[in-house]
Parts: sequence; C-alpha cells; structure tokens
Amino acid sequence: MMIRKFLASVVGFCICALLPALSSAETVAVIGTGSVGSALGPRFADAGLTVVYGSRTPDSSDVQALLNVTPGPASAATPAEAAQAADIILLAVPWRVAEEVLVSLGDVSGKIIIDPVNPRVLDKDGRADYPTLVSNAERLQALAPRAMVVKAFSTISADTMADPDLVEHPLTIPLAGNYPDANERVARLCHELGFETIDFGPVRYAHIIEGLYLLRVNARLNDIYFEWNYPRRK
Ligand SMILES: NC(=O)c1ccc[n+]([C@@H]2O[C@H](COP(=O)([O-])OP(=O)(O)OC[C@H]3O[C@@H](n4cnc5c(N)ncnc54)[C@H](OP(=O)(O)O)[C@@H]3O)[C@@H](O)[C@H]2O)c1
Repeated sequence: MMIRKFLASVVGFCICALLPALSSAETVAVIGTGSVGSALGPRFADAGLTVVYGSRTPDSSDVQALLNVTPGPASAATPAEAAQAADIILLAVPWRVAEEVLVSLGDVSGKIIIDPVNPRVLDKDGRADYPTLVSNAERLQALAPRAMVVKAFSTISADTMADPDLVEHPLTIPLAGNYPDANERVARLCHELGFETIDFGPVRYAHIIEGLYLLRVNARLNDIYFEWNYPRRK
C-alpha cells in the first residue's frame, strides 16, 4: 500500500513537472504563406517552435503542401486565429497591406511581431525609394503599441532564409525594436536558424535597415552586386 502511494505520488509529481514544460513551447504565427512565410515557417518548426500559418486560404492545397514540409504539430488557420494562438507573429505580407493585415489580427498586446517587410516604390528612373518617411516597423509599432515589433529578416532573400549555407560566409541580420528582451528573443531565434545578428536598438533605426534593401535594388541597376549583407553565392 505504502509503495503504491509512493509510486502514485512520484508519477503525479512527474506529470506536474512535465506539463508546464510541454505547454511552454512557444507558438509562432506565420502570417502569409508566400516566399518568406514558406521559407521561415519550416525553419521555425525545426528550431522547436510550434508553427501556425495564418493564411487567407488555410485549406488550399498550397498551404496543405507547406504543412507537409513543416515538422512538428503545425497547423493553418485564418490570420486572426493564428495570431491569437501565438506568442510570436511573423508578418510576412506585402508592404502595401501590412498595416491592414496587422489591424485584422485583433489584440496583439504582449506578443512579439517580427517585421521582415521592405516597403518601396519605383521612381520614374526605375530606382527604388521609400514610399513613406516613417519605416514600416515604426508604423506597425504605432498601430500596436502594446506589442513588441522587431525589424528582422528584411535584408536577406527568402532562399537564404531557407538555407543560409547558400552563401559563402555568415549572414548578419540587423535588428531594431524598442523592447530589448524582444530583440534578444528574435536574435536567439536567428542564431538558431544559423544567422548572426546586430541589434541596432530602438525601432526608429528600422528606417535605415529598410533602406539597405533600396540600396541593393538600386545598385543592381548599375550591375553592382551590393554585398554588405547579400554575399556572393557559392
Ligand atoms: N521574397 C524575399 O526574398 C523577401 C526578402 C526579405 C523581405 N521580404 C519582405 O517580406 C514580405 C513578404 O514577402 P514575400 O516575398 O513572401 O511575398 P509574397 O510571396 O508575395 O507573399 C506574401 C503573402 O502575404 C499574404 N497576403 C496577405 N494579404 C495579402 C494581400 N492583400 N495581397 C497579397 N498577399 C497577401 C499571402 O499569403 P496567403 O495567401 O497565405 O494569405 C501572400 O502569399 C514582403 O513585405 C517583402 O518585402 C521579402
């Protein structure tokens, strides 16, 4: 009898100790299942996050195919459902709709929002330029003041997001966001995916980070391969 009671209390203790650990696995909502969402979703899952894709068409064959290559308990839902289930949100949508998509997600207080978006317009001479004076990341932070927006992943291409080994040397991802703990969390995630990071501090520096993409587009007009963060392919 004593032994049975002892074993029962040991089993109970183990279950109680395990449950919080199991339920503390973070969930990331990957909003948008285009090039960036499809590149990072499976890699986030590889890094141990539970992935829920937020798509306008969660039942489509494309999204189901993406689920098939995403390890772990991945699922797909509407963008708002995915965001509400998540601790971290990757907003991998076109810049023109980024703000409206963010608003459509509902209350995102306390969540980390990773912003890979590169806003740009093309001038008459074909050069890329800022569409607004305020960066996308700052606009998202203003729209969701209780969330923690972190600019990240905007300076590398979707194929290197999927496979950092495509290039010759380590890729460095510049980060910016007003919340050091959130920046640190995203930095850790980047490291787990095989990237280096530089934390440039407050979200206002996202303006400069987003400018790196514009420089890259414009350099290519002159056949210049801008290599600061786009190293030559192997
Ligand atoms: N491609 C790159 O190499 C790269 C690199 C760095 C940064 N970025 C930035 O990352 C963001 C995503 O880029 P991407 O290349 O993944 O774009 P994409 O291939 O065009 O995919 C964007 C996804 O956003 C979702 N979406 C939600 N609302 C939408 C709307 N109204 N119209 C169109 N799509 C909508 C769609 O997913 P659902 O159909 O599932 O809803 C769509 O597949 C962009 O802001 C881009 O500037 C891209």
